[in-house]
Amino acid sequence: MVRAAVRSLLRQATAATRPTAKPVARTFITSASTRSDAIFVHRDTDYNNPKIPFSFNTENRKVADEIISRYPPQYKKAAVIPLLDLGQRQNKGWTSISVMNHVAEVLEMPRMRVYEVATFYTMFNREPVAPNFVQLCTTTPCMLGGCGSDSILETIQKHLKVKPGQTTPDGKFTLVEVECLGACSNAPMMAVGDDYYEDLTPETTIKILNAFAAGEKPKPGPQSGRRTSENSAGLTTLTSEPYGPGAFCQPEFQ
Ligand code: FES
Repeated sequence: MVRAAVRSLLRQATAATRPTAKPVARTFITSASTRSDAIFVHRDTDYNNPKIPFSFNTENRKVADEIISRYPPQYKKAAVIPLLDLGQRQNKGWTSISVMNHVAEVLEMPRMRVYEVATFYTMFNREPVAPNFVQLCTTTPCMLGGCGSDSILETIQKHLKVKPGQTTPDGKFTLVEVECLGACSNAPMMAVGDDYYEDLTPETTIKILNAFAAGEKPKPGPQSGRRTSENSAGLTTLTSEPYGPGAFCQPEFQ
């Protein structure tokens, strides 16, 4: 009994003399924040304020109703992205506050929920863009593939005399840098409107831009002579004609 009490006292005494742990100052490592060139808050301007009317035209309202009908009525807000896209297309390629408000009204959802979606996805342009909306991919595969997106960016900047995020003074082109557009095997590439122009070189890029400037529509796809993303040195496997359906069996490739 006495021995146990002595042991307990000794333990307590030892614990009391043990140095107490000092508070550790933890180092937090943060990377420098890269600010976007687009602001995420809305500021009323004379060209973008809620008083400017917007509603789907008859044709687009039909399309919107068809899209909404794909979802159960209680989940119709699931149609917010395709409806914003529809609104953006009707509104000359950009999503104004009035477009967002109209989509909220059609889907019976709080406006703030629509703003959250439109400000999250960079595909929704919240400032006006030119009819030729040039999106140049500068993600790693495009930066490394072919001549590299750096040289394409330089070419476009020099040729159009704009920097990313700017519109040419004649209002024909808007240039933006974007992340991967999913055509990495045809790097470097850019999208103009809905079409992809791939396997670019400075020369083909200028040719494409000149065609758009002249109001023409250059042929989209690889500019290198490849049909799609097949080996540019020639096929090494699967060399026979596929039995279809497949891209190479379509009449345009015959
Ligand atoms: S990295 Fe450019 S399309 Fe994928």
